[in-house]
Parts: sequence; C-alpha cells; structure tokens
Amino acid sequence: MRRSVVRGVGGYLPSKCVSNSDLAGNLDTTDEWIVERTGMKQRHLLGDGQNTSDLAAEAAKIALQNAGIDASAIDLIVVATVTPDHPFPATAARVQAKIGATKAFAFDVNAVCSGFVYALSVADQYLKTGMAKKALVIGADAMSKIVDWNDRSTAVLFGDGAGALVLESVDETHVDFGRGVHSTHLFSDGCHYDLLYVDTKQASAKQPGHVHMQGREIFKFAIKLIGEAVETVLHHNSIAVDDIDWFVPHQANLRIIEGISTHFKIPMEKMVVTVDRHSNTSAATIPLALWEAANDGRIQQGQRVVLEAMGGGLTWASALVVW
Ligand code: UT7
Repeated sequence: MRRSVVRGVGGYLPSKCVSNSDLAGNLDTTDEWIVERTGMKQRHLLGDGQNTSDLAAEAAKIALQNAGIDASAIDLIVVATVTPDHPFPATAARVQAKIGATKAFAFDVNAVCSGFVYALSVADQYLKTGMAKKALVIGADAMSKIVDWNDRSTAVLFGDGAGALVLESVDETHVDFGRGVHSTHLFSDGCHYDLLYVDTKQASAKQPGHVHMQGREIFKFAIKLIGEAVETVLHHNSIAVDDIDWFVPHQANLRIIEGISTHFKIPMEKMVVTVDRHSNTSAATIPLALWEAANDGRIQQGQRVVLEAMGGGLTWASALVVW
C-alpha cells in the first residue's frame, strides 16, 4: 500500500488589502456589523492584471520550494477553483505552464468551498495507486471577480488567495510517524443548489456572473453538515477530538468555527483561524490556513490535522492528515 505524504506547503495573498472601513466607504455597511456577524476584518483582492492562475502559480512555487522539489518532478496538478481564468482550458493547465511542470497532467475540480478537500481526495487516489508519484494540490479563488460589489450581503464576505500542498506517494513501510493522508470523506446534496450559486443572467466576457447566497440558510446547513463531516472522519479513524492536534476549518464565518468548537468541545486554540485577515477565499481557505500554521511552527511533523469544509452544491467534506 502507498500513502500520500505532505512534502511542502505554500500560500499566496495578493498585496492589495481592503479593510471593512474601506468597504463601508462604498456600501451601506459598518466595520462593527462585519466583525460581529462574521469575524472578518480585512481581505486581499486581485491586483490589476492578476488572475486566479497567478495566485495559484505563486502558491505552488512556494510549496515546491518548501518541499525542495523541482516543478519538473511533478506529475499531477489539481486546482480547486470556482473562479477559473476562463471557462476552459483548466486553470491547472495555465499553472502547469507558469511553473514549468512540463510532465504533469493537470485539471480543475469545482466543489466550491469544499473544493480543496475534494482536490486532495482526488489526488490521493492517484498517489495511493502509484499512478502519480508527486502531486500539487492547489486551492485558488479570486472571488472578487464574481462578487456584486453593490450587494452588501455578499461583497463583504469574500477575498482572493491561493494555497498549495506538494504530496508524494510513499510506500507505507517507509512512512515515519504514520504520516500522510489517512482518509477523505466527500458529500454532496444538489437539492440545495439554489442556496448558493452564481447568477449568470447578466454575465459578460468581463463579468462571469454574481454570487447569490441565502446566508442564514447556508449558515444552518454549515453547522449541521460540517458537524457530520467531523463525526465521520473521527469515527472512520477510531479517534476522539482529544487525539487531534489541529482542526483546519473552511473559513466562512468565525461564528461557524466557534459553533463547531462548542459542539465538539474543541478548544479554540486547536482551531486554525484566518478568517479575520483573509475573509472567505473559497477553495483557498484551508491550504492558506495550513500554510500559515505550518510556517509559524504550530503544525509539526507527525501531528494529526483534521480538515473540514462546506460550500455551494451543497458540498461538504473532511479529511485526516498526519503532517
Ligand atoms: O463559504 C460557503 C459557505 N458560506 C457560509 O457558510 C456563509 C454562511 N452564512 C453566514 O455566514 C451569515 O448568514 C452571513 C454573514 C452571510 C449573514 O449573517 P446573518 O447574521 O445571518 O445576517 P442576516 O443575513 O440574517 O441579516 C441580518 C441583517 C439584515 O437586516 P434586517 O433584515 O434584519 O433589517 C441584513 O439586511 O443584517 C443586514 N445585513 C447587513 N448589514 C450591514 C446584511 N449584510 C449586511 C452588511 N452590513 N454587510
């Protein structure tokens, strides 16, 4: 049996940073409302001429450097995104060219805010079978392209960014400290498609559509479905909350993260939180949080990390990774 082992992590946030007060200059909103209802204080947004593949490529380069692996050694690139540079080809193809991963096959996955865990699961299947030896799994979104900047109910919630993991397929007998992806759990329910979607009725070449969300409904589903996903990953691996070193949740709202923390009695110190500084970067929230927590020394080799997410579709997902 083979295991997908994390070799490197990277992240990238565009330099343009917009505070709640900046947004309140153009929208009927306040810093107080945004902080109280979401925990968000700022978000990074694409600069002029930047696109999703630029964010993804920068994150990928940092992850490769962190892994000490050359792009030419990568044989699979999966990019989770709902804001591709173009409807086709895949943004992953652009990333492949931008980083010079000449022998990699590359494609995108669309599972909205659960996208990174979906992409990780897809890559894990290739790595476990040995069909790929080294993979880049990237979550990248430029939500600013599809947010209606006149709609205060969504415009304040999102940001742009990308995060990436380099994974290597290793024979289980050569894996130290039980490292690697132990399980991934993916769920979908298309009956709630309309709760969170992009309205393309007024789409144009420059504007692919606008995010529509029934926030309160999504909030209720998020608590319930993320809870189910966490229960599934714990049960599947016969472990308890106390056995987990770090929980890395999708960052849609601090109140959702706190709700999960309360429900499972997970101390907030074990939750990696970036929503205050990054806002909701969709598929990028989890790998950006991993990058931050690995970089500052919180996540250490051999520690158990649970990933959990929920998003449009509906989709929801969880994973156990030993770092
Ligand atoms: O990542 C994918 C999954 N997404 C999520 O998980 C998001 C889940 N939903 C949420 O996080 C929350 O529902 C929101 C942050 C989107 C909204 O918070 P809420 O506490 O559910 O607010 P609400 O939608 O119930 O709106 C409460 C009030 C409304 O005014 P009235 O009707 O009570 O007078 C809104 O019009 O807040 C108003 N409001 C705002 N006020 C100031 C909505 N957006 C704003 C705003 N500034 N930006």
